[in-house]
Amino acid sequence: MSRRPHSPECSPRPQKKQKQDRLTSENYKNGVFLAPMVRSGALPTRLFALKHGATMVWGPEIVDKAILHAKREVDPVTGVVSYNGVSRAIWTTHPVEKPHLIYQIGSADPELAVQAARTVMQDVSGIDLNCGCPKPFSTHSGMGAALLTNPDLLCSILTALRKAMPEQISVSAKIRLLPSQEDTLKLVERICGTGICALTVHCRTRNMRDKERAMIERLKEIVQFVEGLGKGIAVVENGDCQGWEDAKRVREVTGAHSVMIARAGEANPTCFSDEPLLDLDKTLLPSYLRLSRYLDNNWSLTKFCVTQFKGGRVNIKKAESIKTRQMLAQAKGYESTTELVGEWTGEDEMKRIIETIESNPPRLRRLQTLECASNEELGMPLSTPAAMASVIFPSVVSSCDEDISYTTPQNTQNPEPPSSCAPFLPNSFQSKGPLPAKSDPVTPTPTVAV
Ligand SMILES: Cc1cc2nc3c(=O)[nH]c(=O)nc-3n(C[C@H](O)[C@H](O)[C@H](O)COP(=O)(O)O)c2cc1C
Repeated sequence: MSRRPHSPECSPRPQKKQKQDRLTSENYKNGVFLAPMVRSGALPTRLFALKHGATMVWGPEIVDKAILHAKREVDPVTGVVSYNGVSRAIWTTHPVEKPHLIYQIGSADPELAVQAARTVMQDVSGIDLNCGCPKPFSTHSGMGAALLTNPDLLCSILTALRKAMPEQISVSAKIRLLPSQEDTLKLVERICGTGICALTVHCRTRNMRDKERAMIERLKEIVQFVEGLGKGIAVVENGDCQGWEDAKRVREVTGAHSVMIARAGEANPTCFSDEPLLDLDKTLLPSYLRLSRYLDNNWSLTKFCVTQFKGGRVNIKKAESIKTRQMLAQAKGYESTTELVGEWTGEDEMKRIIETIESNPPRLRRLQTLECASNEELGMPLSTPAAMASVIFPSVVSSCDEDISYTTPQNTQNPEPPSSCAPFLPNSFQSKGPLPAKSDPVTPTPTVAV
């Protein structure tokens, strides 16, 4: 039995109304984004990333057919929107992230991609096409990185999405580099002709492993090329960025308009802040568990996400940390984590997240290096880094001196991607019986992503 009855309509506790202006390519510029990550890009991770500085967040890739027959249900207490299949939630979201949320589709079919986008468009601000996943389950069916060598199909999907989506839904693509720069530029030119407003480039080729260094130096020419097309399309760098401070380095090397972070965000969802949380076992972990329980996030998914956390240790001894990890490893459900969490006040966590997002809208946070920001852009005379930082990050910068560091923070982790799979069903969800035949397709969401 579900802990709470769900409504297919909308939450009876409406959030404070947010300005729902449409995303333009400008919104994709000067930002630091949470990358699409199957499993690791779960709702609580996205919410903490937004609370701690991410400008926008991408949801995990969902294969087109997987969402088509999902039943949309709204939790009347939390407002969480679940797209439920027969035996599991395919995808969950919350209205507070909508203005900053991009939904990523895996597809090899323009028609299905459009249907999938229509299914979720009321809950998102943009649709992104995954053109980078190199895993066989994806490429065998022509999706992901297979699209890189089938530009006709790739572009037909993007064109169809742009044509079918209302103006307020942005369309973007995430690609990998091709082995040759010339071929990459040719592909980029074609993609830029489809009406997209942003292009993310994961700076590895299809055959490169994530352990190998991303070839970010190849991006500069691509950025200049796209700018030369004069369409205002934003180019987003992806690959090996460690966090907010490091994003400045990446922008300086690549000239990219924005930076997208995957594994460092998985290891520490607060890395988007100029003051990322340290001692995660004591800071983020309890909050994450409280929030996840309140949102009814599937326990196994929550456990998976928190076991990926790896922030710097300052006040916590190694032995303490090992003990916490052991407790987590043995935990069979939220109730076994009380010692780690203390009082169960997940509702307060959610309130704080909503307040932070609403009072300091993530989309307005701007990544500006001293070199690239002009006073005119920022609308005021800014003579010192401290003054600049206080404008860029008004809620988190209370005092700041001239000595702002532009180096990669120490102790940031870049772990190997874990094997991933589709999100699990929320704990409270129980199937209300099978859907009619053929209505819940078996197409899997990826088990391992790009
Ligand atoms: C656990 C995990 C899941 C991922 N899932 C997706 C996905 O659903 N869609 C996608 O385009 N890329 C996916 N990726 C790739 C990342 O978005 C990103 O391109 C890659 O990790 C390189 O960025 P990084 O160096 O910041 O980690 C995934 C990566 C990881 C580690």
